[in-house]
Amino acid sequence: MTACLICGAPINPFLSFGKMPIANGFLLPENFNKEFFFDLQVGHCQKCQMVQLTELVDPGMLFHENYAYFSSISVRMARHFKQFADYVQDYYLPKKNPFVVEIGSNDGIMLQNFMQAGIRHLGIEPSTNVANAAIAKGVNTVVRFFSEETGEALRKEFGAADVILGANVICHLPNIHSVLQGIKALLKDEGLFIFEEPYLGDIVQKISYDQIYDEHVFYFSLNSLSWLFNEHDMEIVDVLPQNVHGGSMRYAVGRKGVWPVKPAVHEHLAEEKALGLGEADTYERLRQAIHRSKEQLVYLLTEIKGQGHRLVGYGATSKSTTVTNFCGIGPDLIEFISDTTPGKQGKYSPGVHIPVLPYERFKENYPNYALLFAWNHGEEIMDKEEDFRAWGGKWVVYVPQVTVI
Ligand code: SAH
Ligand code: TMP
Ligand code: ZN
Repeated sequence: MTACLICGAPINPFLSFGKMPIANGFLLPENFNKEFFFDLQVGHCQKCQMVQLTELVDPGMLFHENYAYFSSISVRMARHFKQFADYVQDYYLPKKNPFVVEIGSNDGIMLQNFMQAGIRHLGIEPSTNVANAAIAKGVNTVVRFFSEETGEALRKEFGAADVILGANVICHLPNIHSVLQGIKALLKDEGLFIFEEPYLGDIVQKISYDQIYDEHVFYFSLNSLSWLFNEHDMEIVDVLPQNVHGGSMRYAVGRKGVWPVKPAVHEHLAEEKALGLGEADTYERLRQAIHRSKEQLVYLLTEIKGQGHRLVGYGATSKSTTVTNFCGIGPDLIEFISDTTPGKQGKYSPGVHIPVLPYERFKENYPNYALLFAWNHGEEIMDKEEDFRAWGGKWVVYVPQVTVI
Protein backbone atom coordinates (compact mmCIF):
# COMPACT_ATOMS: atom_id res chain seq x y z
CA MET A 1 0.00 0.00 0.00
CA THR A 2 1.41 3.42 -0.98
CA ALA A 3 0.24 6.85 0.08
CA CYS A 4 -1.30 9.14 -2.54
CA LEU A 5 1.08 11.98 -3.47
CA ILE A 6 -1.85 14.39 -3.63
CA CYS A 7 -4.07 13.59 -0.62
CA GLY A 8 -2.13 11.03 1.41
CA ALA A 9 -4.87 8.35 1.28
CA PRO A 10 -3.67 4.76 0.78
CA ILE A 11 -3.84 3.57 -2.84
CA ASN A 12 -3.61 0.13 -4.42
CA PRO A 13 -1.78 -0.27 -7.72
CA PHE A 14 -4.09 -1.54 -10.49
CA LEU A 15 -1.40 -2.21 -13.06
CA SER A 16 2.16 -3.49 -12.82
CA PHE A 17 4.63 -3.48 -15.73
CA GLY A 18 7.42 -5.19 -13.79
CA LYS A 19 10.99 -3.93 -13.74
CA MET A 20 11.62 -1.00 -16.08
CA PRO A 21 14.71 1.01 -17.02
CA ILE A 22 14.82 4.84 -17.32
CA ALA A 23 12.56 5.61 -20.31
CA ASN A 24 14.88 8.24 -21.81
CA GLY A 25 18.04 6.41 -20.68
CA PHE A 26 19.50 5.52 -24.10
CA LEU A 27 22.92 4.06 -23.37
CA LEU A 28 26.25 2.70 -24.65
CA PRO A 29 27.26 -0.98 -24.21
CA GLU A 30 29.88 -0.08 -21.58
CA ASN A 31 26.99 1.01 -19.33
CA PHE A 32 24.74 -2.05 -19.84
CA ASN A 33 25.85 -3.66 -16.58
CA LYS A 34 25.21 -0.43 -14.61
CA GLU A 35 21.67 0.08 -15.91
CA PHE A 36 19.10 1.18 -13.31
CA PHE A 37 15.74 -0.59 -13.00
CA PHE A 38 12.66 0.14 -10.87
CA ASP A 39 9.10 -1.24 -10.45
CA LEU A 40 6.73 0.54 -12.82
CA GLN A 41 3.27 0.46 -11.26
CA VAL A 42 0.24 2.74 -11.45
CA GLY A 43 -2.52 3.25 -8.93
CA HIS A 44 -5.80 5.15 -8.74
CA CYS A 45 -6.69 7.11 -5.59
CA GLN A 46 -10.36 6.69 -4.70
CA LYS A 47 -10.31 9.80 -2.53
CA CYS A 48 -8.83 12.53 -4.79
CA GLN A 49 -9.08 10.52 -8.07
CA MET A 50 -5.43 11.00 -9.07
CA VAL A 51 -3.90 8.21 -11.15
CA GLN A 52 -0.19 8.04 -10.36
CA LEU A 53 3.00 5.98 -10.17
CA THR A 54 3.53 4.13 -6.93
CA GLU A 55 7.35 4.11 -7.10
CA LEU A 56 9.27 7.22 -8.12
CA VAL A 57 12.65 7.67 -9.72
CA ASP A 58 14.78 10.53 -8.34
CA PRO A 59 14.22 13.55 -10.68
CA GLY A 60 18.00 14.16 -10.70
CA MET A 61 18.37 10.82 -12.55
CA LEU A 62 15.87 11.91 -15.21
CA PHE A 63 16.57 15.59 -15.88
CA HIS A 64 20.23 16.53 -16.26
CA GLU A 65 22.94 17.74 -18.63
CA ASN A 66 22.26 14.85 -21.05
CA TYR A 67 18.46 14.97 -21.25
CA ALA A 68 17.61 13.12 -24.46
CA TYR A 69 14.43 14.94 -25.51
CA PHE A 70 14.73 18.10 -27.60
CA SER A 71 11.21 19.45 -28.15
CA SER A 72 12.03 21.19 -31.45
CA ILE A 73 12.71 17.85 -33.16
CA SER A 74 9.06 17.93 -34.27
CA VAL A 75 7.97 20.49 -36.85
CA ARG A 76 4.34 19.90 -35.99
CA MET A 77 4.94 20.55 -32.28
CA ALA A 78 6.73 23.80 -33.16
CA ARG A 79 3.61 24.83 -35.07
CA HIS A 80 1.42 23.74 -32.18
CA PHE A 81 3.37 25.85 -29.68
CA LYS A 82 3.17 28.86 -32.01
CA GLN A 83 -0.62 28.47 -31.85
CA PHE A 84 -0.47 28.02 -28.07
CA ALA A 85 1.55 31.26 -27.76
CA ASP A 86 -0.91 33.10 -30.06
CA TYR A 87 -3.84 31.88 -27.90
CA VAL A 88 -2.14 33.17 -24.75
CA GLN A 89 -1.34 36.51 -26.38
CA ASP A 90 -4.82 36.94 -27.85
CA TYR A 91 -6.85 36.03 -24.78
CA TYR A 92 -4.81 36.33 -21.66
CA LEU A 93 -1.91 38.78 -21.90
CA PRO A 94 -2.36 42.39 -20.80
CA LYS A 95 -1.28 44.90 -23.43
CA LYS A 96 1.04 46.77 -21.05
CA ASN A 97 4.47 45.24 -20.46
CA PRO A 98 3.36 41.62 -20.03
CA PHE A 99 5.62 39.00 -18.42
CA VAL A 100 5.35 35.31 -19.37
CA VAL A 101 7.04 32.47 -17.48
CA GLU A 102 7.28 28.85 -18.64
CA ILE A 103 8.07 25.84 -16.47
CA GLY A 104 10.01 23.13 -18.35
CA SER A 105 10.77 25.31 -21.36
CA ASN A 106 13.20 22.77 -22.87
CA ASP A 107 14.89 24.17 -26.02
CA GLY A 108 12.60 27.22 -26.15
CA ILE A 109 10.02 25.74 -28.53
CA MET A 110 7.18 27.78 -26.94
CA LEU A 111 8.97 30.84 -25.56
CA GLN A 112 10.75 31.62 -28.84
CA ASN A 113 7.37 32.93 -30.05
CA PHE A 114 7.16 35.43 -27.17
CA MET A 115 10.81 36.36 -27.73
CA GLN A 116 10.09 37.08 -31.40
CA ALA A 117 7.07 39.20 -30.42
CA GLY A 118 9.31 41.25 -28.10
CA ILE A 119 7.45 40.06 -24.97
CA ARG A 120 9.28 39.77 -21.64
CA HIS A 121 9.66 36.07 -20.88
CA LEU A 122 11.55 33.59 -18.73
CA GLY A 123 11.97 29.82 -19.00
CA ILE A 124 12.76 27.57 -16.04
CA GLU A 125 14.52 24.43 -17.25
CA PRO A 126 16.74 22.12 -15.15
CA SER A 127 18.23 20.07 -18.02
CA THR A 128 21.35 22.03 -18.98
CA ASN A 129 21.76 20.77 -22.53
CA VAL A 130 18.24 21.65 -23.69
CA ALA A 131 18.31 24.93 -21.69
CA ASN A 132 21.53 25.89 -23.50
CA ALA A 133 19.85 25.28 -26.85
CA ALA A 134 17.14 27.78 -25.80
CA ILE A 135 19.70 30.32 -24.57
CA ALA A 136 21.57 30.02 -27.89
CA LYS A 137 18.33 31.08 -29.66
CA GLY A 138 18.07 34.13 -27.39
CA VAL A 139 15.32 32.72 -25.16
CA ASN A 140 15.76 33.89 -21.53
CA THR A 141 16.21 30.75 -19.46
CA VAL A 142 17.35 29.88 -15.94
CA VAL A 143 18.71 26.39 -15.31
CA ARG A 144 16.71 25.32 -12.26
CA PHE A 145 14.05 22.94 -10.97
CA PHE A 146 10.80 24.81 -10.31
CA SER A 147 9.47 24.62 -6.72
CA GLU A 148 8.04 26.89 -4.03
CA GLU A 149 11.52 28.21 -3.30
CA THR A 150 12.23 28.92 -6.99
CA GLY A 151 8.88 30.68 -7.42
CA GLU A 152 9.58 32.97 -4.46
CA ALA A 153 13.15 33.71 -5.57
CA LEU A 154 12.06 34.50 -9.15
CA ARG A 155 9.32 36.83 -7.91
CA LYS A 156 11.94 38.85 -6.00
CA GLU A 157 14.31 38.93 -8.94
CA PHE A 158 11.95 39.42 -11.89
CA GLY A 159 8.61 40.59 -10.45
CA ALA A 160 5.21 38.88 -10.74
CA ALA A 161 4.13 36.99 -13.89
CA ASP A 162 0.93 37.67 -15.83
CA VAL A 163 0.85 34.15 -17.12
CA ILE A 164 2.72 30.97 -16.16
CA LEU A 165 2.81 28.26 -18.79
CA GLY A 166 3.68 24.57 -18.85
CA ALA A 167 3.47 21.79 -21.40
CA ASN A 168 4.16 18.12 -20.79
CA VAL A 169 5.92 18.96 -17.57
CA ILE A 170 3.49 19.41 -14.67
CA CYS A 171 2.61 15.68 -14.70
CA HIS A 172 6.37 15.03 -14.26
CA LEU A 173 6.60 16.82 -10.92
CA PRO A 174 6.23 14.68 -7.75
CA ASN A 175 6.60 17.81 -5.58
CA ILE A 176 3.43 19.19 -7.17
CA HIS A 177 2.17 20.83 -3.97
CA SER A 178 5.42 22.79 -3.70
CA VAL A 179 5.19 23.65 -7.42
CA LEU A 180 1.69 25.09 -6.94
CA GLN A 181 2.91 27.12 -3.95
CA GLY A 182 5.71 28.44 -6.20
CA ILE A 183 3.21 29.28 -8.94
CA LYS A 184 1.06 31.22 -6.46
CA ALA A 185 4.13 33.09 -5.23
CA LEU A 186 5.17 34.09 -8.74
CA LEU A 187 1.78 34.77 -10.33
CA LYS A 188 -0.08 38.09 -10.15
CA ASP A 189 -3.39 37.94 -8.22
CA GLU A 190 -5.35 38.12 -11.48
CA GLY A 191 -2.79 35.99 -13.36
CA LEU A 192 -3.40 32.61 -14.99
CA PHE A 193 -1.54 29.34 -14.95
CA ILE A 194 -2.10 27.65 -18.32
CA PHE A 195 -0.73 24.17 -18.94
CA GLU A 196 -1.36 21.12 -21.09
CA GLU A 197 -0.55 17.49 -20.41
CA PRO A 198 -1.44 14.02 -21.72
CA TYR A 199 -5.04 13.35 -20.74
CA LEU A 200 -6.18 10.31 -18.74
CA GLY A 201 -9.42 10.11 -20.75
CA ASP A 202 -7.39 9.53 -23.93
CA ILE A 203 -5.16 6.93 -22.26
CA VAL A 204 -8.22 4.98 -21.12
CA GLN A 205 -10.02 5.26 -24.46
CA LYS A 206 -7.01 4.57 -26.70
CA ILE A 207 -5.34 2.04 -24.36
CA SER A 208 -2.20 4.12 -24.84
CA TYR A 209 -0.33 2.44 -22.02
CA ASP A 210 3.01 3.61 -23.41
CA GLN A 211 2.27 7.03 -21.85
CA ILE A 212 3.07 5.29 -18.57
CA TYR A 213 6.78 5.62 -17.71
CA ASP A 214 9.07 7.04 -15.03
CA GLU A 215 8.79 10.73 -16.03
CA HIS A 216 4.99 10.69 -16.03
CA VAL A 217 4.30 10.61 -12.31
CA PHE A 218 0.65 11.71 -12.73
CA TYR A 219 -2.08 10.92 -15.31
CA PHE A 220 -4.33 13.95 -14.98
CA SER A 221 -8.08 14.20 -15.28
CA LEU A 222 -10.13 17.33 -14.78
CA ASN A 223 -11.65 15.72 -11.72
CA SER A 224 -8.35 14.95 -9.97
CA LEU A 225 -6.88 18.35 -10.87
CA SER A 226 -9.96 20.13 -9.53
CA TRP A 227 -9.37 18.39 -6.19
CA LEU A 228 -5.71 19.42 -6.22
CA PHE A 229 -6.26 23.09 -7.15
CA ASN A 230 -9.04 23.40 -4.60
CA GLU A 231 -6.48 22.53 -1.91
CA HIS A 232 -4.51 25.59 -3.08
CA ASP A 233 -7.48 27.98 -3.31
CA MET A 234 -7.29 27.88 -7.08
CA GLU A 235 -9.79 26.69 -9.70
CA ILE A 236 -9.84 25.50 -13.29
CA VAL A 237 -11.63 28.13 -15.36
CA ASP A 238 -11.25 26.67 -18.85
CA VAL A 239 -10.32 23.40 -20.56
CA LEU A 240 -9.45 22.78 -24.19
CA PRO A 241 -8.72 19.29 -25.60
CA GLN A 242 -5.58 19.18 -27.76
CA ASN A 243 -4.81 16.78 -30.57
CA VAL A 244 -1.11 16.34 -29.72
CA HIS A 245 0.96 13.68 -27.95
CA GLY A 246 -1.84 11.18 -28.41
CA GLY A 247 -4.48 13.36 -26.74
CA SER A 248 -3.79 16.16 -24.28
CA MET A 249 -5.86 18.62 -22.29
CA ARG A 250 -5.09 22.31 -21.81
CA TYR A 251 -6.19 23.81 -18.48
CA ALA A 252 -6.43 27.49 -17.51
CA VAL A 253 -6.28 27.98 -13.75
CA GLY A 254 -6.74 31.11 -11.64
CA ARG A 255 -7.09 32.05 -8.01
CA LYS A 256 -10.60 31.20 -6.81
CA GLY A 257 -13.30 33.63 -7.84
CA VAL A 258 -11.10 35.82 -10.06
CA TRP A 259 -12.06 34.44 -13.48
CA PRO A 260 -15.49 33.17 -14.62
CA VAL A 261 -15.61 29.38 -15.01
CA LYS A 262 -16.36 28.53 -18.65
CA PRO A 263 -19.13 25.99 -19.46
CA ALA A 264 -16.51 23.67 -21.02
CA VAL A 265 -15.28 22.83 -17.52
CA HIS A 266 -18.67 21.46 -16.45
CA GLU A 267 -19.15 19.68 -19.78
CA HIS A 268 -15.84 17.85 -19.50
CA LEU A 269 -16.45 16.91 -15.87
CA ALA A 270 -19.70 15.27 -16.98
CA GLU A 271 -17.85 13.45 -19.79
CA GLU A 272 -15.33 12.07 -17.31
CA LYS A 273 -18.15 10.75 -15.19
CA ALA A 274 -19.72 9.05 -18.22
CA LEU A 275 -16.34 7.53 -19.06
CA GLY A 276 -16.11 6.08 -15.56
CA LEU A 277 -12.81 7.73 -14.66
CA GLY A 278 -13.81 7.70 -10.99
CA GLU A 279 -14.48 3.95 -10.83
CA ALA A 280 -12.10 1.14 -9.96
CA ASP A 281 -13.78 -1.10 -12.61
CA THR A 282 -12.59 1.18 -15.38
CA TYR A 283 -8.98 0.60 -14.35
CA GLU A 284 -9.44 -3.15 -14.11
CA ARG A 285 -10.83 -3.13 -17.66
CA LEU A 286 -7.90 -0.98 -18.77
CA ARG A 287 -5.45 -3.47 -17.24
CA GLN A 288 -7.07 -6.33 -19.15
CA ALA A 289 -7.10 -4.37 -22.41
CA ILE A 290 -3.39 -3.56 -22.03
CA HIS A 291 -2.52 -7.23 -21.57
CA ARG A 292 -4.56 -8.13 -24.67
CA SER A 293 -2.82 -5.41 -26.67
CA LYS A 294 0.58 -6.79 -25.61
CA GLU A 295 -0.33 -10.33 -26.70
CA GLN A 296 -1.58 -9.12 -30.08
CA LEU A 297 1.51 -7.02 -30.76
CA VAL A 298 3.97 -9.77 -29.84
CA TYR A 299 2.01 -12.26 -31.99
CA LEU A 300 2.01 -9.92 -35.00
CA LEU A 301 5.70 -9.04 -34.78
CA THR A 302 6.68 -12.69 -34.35
CA GLU A 303 4.65 -13.56 -37.46
CA ILE A 304 6.26 -10.82 -39.51
CA LYS A 305 9.72 -11.88 -38.44
CA GLY A 306 8.88 -15.56 -39.00
CA GLN A 307 7.98 -14.76 -42.61
CA GLY A 308 11.53 -13.47 -43.07
CA HIS A 309 10.63 -9.78 -43.33
CA ARG A 310 12.81 -6.92 -42.11
CA LEU A 311 11.28 -5.00 -39.21
CA VAL A 312 12.55 -1.64 -37.92
CA GLY A 313 11.29 0.71 -35.18
CA TYR A 314 10.46 4.34 -36.10
CA GLY A 315 11.17 6.95 -33.37
CA ALA A 316 13.18 6.04 -30.24
CA THR A 317 10.56 7.60 -27.99
CA SER A 318 10.50 7.41 -24.23
CA LYS A 319 7.13 5.70 -24.71
CA SER A 320 8.81 2.91 -26.69
CA THR A 321 10.78 1.92 -23.59
CA THR A 322 7.54 0.86 -21.89
CA VAL A 323 6.35 -1.07 -24.95
CA THR A 324 9.60 -2.90 -25.71
CA ASN A 325 10.31 -3.83 -22.08
CA PHE A 326 6.74 -4.74 -21.14
CA CYS A 327 6.20 -6.80 -24.31
CA GLY A 328 9.72 -8.26 -24.41
CA ILE A 329 10.46 -6.84 -27.87
CA GLY A 330 14.24 -6.90 -28.38
CA PRO A 331 16.85 -6.92 -31.15
CA ASP A 332 15.76 -10.43 -32.16
CA LEU A 333 12.52 -8.87 -33.47
CA ILE A 334 13.57 -5.31 -34.29
CA GLU A 335 16.74 -4.73 -36.31
CA PHE A 336 17.17 -1.13 -35.14
CA ILE A 337 15.18 1.99 -34.20
CA SER A 338 15.47 4.96 -36.55
CA ASP A 339 15.64 8.37 -34.83
CA THR A 340 16.52 11.91 -35.88
CA THR A 341 17.93 12.98 -32.48
CA PRO A 342 21.76 13.05 -32.69
CA GLY A 343 22.17 12.32 -28.96
CA LYS A 344 20.25 9.03 -29.23
CA GLN A 345 21.99 7.78 -32.40
CA GLY A 346 24.70 5.15 -31.88
CA LYS A 347 23.27 4.31 -28.48
CA TYR A 348 21.00 1.42 -27.47
CA SER A 349 17.41 1.51 -26.26
CA PRO A 350 16.91 1.19 -22.48
CA GLY A 351 16.48 -2.31 -21.06
CA VAL A 352 16.12 -4.39 -24.25
CA HIS A 353 19.12 -2.76 -26.01
CA ILE A 354 17.92 -2.33 -29.58
CA PRO A 355 20.44 -0.20 -31.56
CA VAL A 356 19.28 3.37 -32.32
CA LEU A 357 20.51 4.49 -35.75
CA PRO A 358 20.26 7.71 -37.75
CA TYR A 359 17.18 8.23 -39.90
CA GLU A 360 19.34 7.94 -43.04
CA ARG A 361 19.74 4.21 -42.36
CA PHE A 362 15.95 3.83 -42.65
CA LYS A 363 15.74 6.02 -45.75
CA GLU A 364 18.61 4.32 -47.60
CA ASN A 365 17.39 0.76 -47.10
CA TYR A 366 13.68 0.56 -46.36
CA PRO A 367 12.56 -2.37 -44.18
CA ASN A 368 9.40 -4.30 -45.09
CA TYR A 369 7.71 -3.18 -41.88
CA ALA A 370 8.19 -0.17 -39.60
CA LEU A 371 6.84 -0.25 -36.06
CA LEU A 372 5.61 3.27 -35.38
CA PHE A 373 6.80 4.03 -31.86
CA ALA A 374 6.33 7.79 -32.45
CA TRP A 375 2.61 7.26 -33.15
CA ASN A 376 1.81 10.59 -31.52
CA HIS A 377 3.61 12.24 -34.47
CA GLY A 378 1.85 9.83 -36.86
CA GLU A 379 0.34 12.41 -39.23
CA GLU A 380 3.61 14.29 -39.66
CA ILE A 381 5.52 11.04 -40.21
CA MET A 382 3.02 9.47 -42.66
CA ASP A 383 3.15 12.65 -44.77
CA LYS A 384 6.94 12.60 -44.74
CA GLU A 385 7.19 8.90 -45.55
CA GLU A 386 4.96 8.59 -48.60
CA ASP A 387 7.90 7.05 -50.50
CA PHE A 388 8.16 4.23 -47.97
CA ARG A 389 4.53 3.29 -48.57
CA ALA A 390 4.88 3.67 -52.34
CA TRP A 391 7.90 1.33 -52.21
CA GLY A 392 5.72 -1.29 -50.53
CA GLY A 393 6.65 -0.68 -46.89
CA LYS A 394 4.00 -1.19 -44.22
CA TRP A 395 3.42 0.45 -40.85
CA VAL A 396 2.69 -1.50 -37.70
CA VAL A 397 0.76 0.55 -35.13
CA TYR A 398 -0.54 -0.49 -31.71
CA VAL A 399 -2.59 2.52 -30.54
CA PRO A 400 -5.58 2.47 -30.41
CA GLN A 401 -5.39 -1.04 -31.92
CA VAL A 402 -2.67 -3.40 -33.11
CA THR A 403 -2.87 -3.17 -36.92
CA VAL A 404 -0.84 -3.10 -40.10
CA ILE A 405 -1.45 -0.15 -42.44
N1 SAH B 1 7.61 21.82 -22.60
C1 SAH B 1 8.37 21.00 -23.53
C2 SAH B 1 9.26 19.98 -22.83
C3 SAH B 1 8.55 18.84 -22.16
S1 SAH B 1 9.69 17.64 -21.51
C4 SAH B 1 7.45 20.31 -24.53
O1 SAH B 1 6.25 20.23 -24.28
O2 SAH B 1 7.94 19.79 -25.51
C5 SAH B 1 9.69 18.08 -19.80
C6 SAH B 1 10.70 19.16 -19.50
O3 SAH B 1 10.52 19.57 -18.14
C7 SAH B 1 12.15 18.69 -19.63
O4 SAH B 1 12.84 19.59 -20.43
C8 SAH B 1 12.64 18.68 -18.17
O5 SAH B 1 14.03 18.96 -18.05
C9 SAH B 1 11.78 19.76 -17.52
N2 SAH B 1 11.60 19.64 -16.06
C10 SAH B 1 11.62 18.53 -15.30
N3 SAH B 1 11.44 18.84 -13.98
C11 SAH B 1 11.28 20.18 -13.91
C12 SAH B 1 11.06 21.12 -12.84
N4 SAH B 1 10.95 20.72 -11.58
N5 SAH B 1 10.95 22.43 -13.15
C13 SAH B 1 11.04 22.84 -14.44
N6 SAH B 1 11.25 22.01 -15.49
C14 SAH B 1 11.37 20.70 -15.24
P1 TMP C 1 8.14 12.04 -28.37
O1 TMP C 1 7.16 10.97 -28.74
O2 TMP C 1 8.50 11.96 -26.93
O3 TMP C 1 7.70 13.38 -28.86
O4 TMP C 1 9.52 11.68 -29.10
C1 TMP C 1 9.61 11.59 -30.49
C2 TMP C 1 10.89 10.86 -30.89
O5 TMP C 1 10.76 10.44 -32.25
C3 TMP C 1 12.15 11.71 -30.82
O6 TMP C 1 13.24 10.92 -30.34
C4 TMP C 1 12.41 12.09 -32.28
C5 TMP C 1 11.81 10.95 -33.05
N1 TMP C 1 11.26 11.37 -34.34
C6 TMP C 1 11.85 10.88 -35.50
O7 TMP C 1 12.81 10.13 -35.46
N2 TMP C 1 11.32 11.29 -36.70
C7 TMP C 1 10.25 12.13 -36.79
O8 TMP C 1 9.81 12.48 -37.88
C8 TMP C 1 9.65 12.62 -35.56
C9 TMP C 1 8.47 13.55 -35.60
C10 TMP C 1 10.19 12.20 -34.36
ZN1 ZN D 1 -5.39 10.92 -3.39
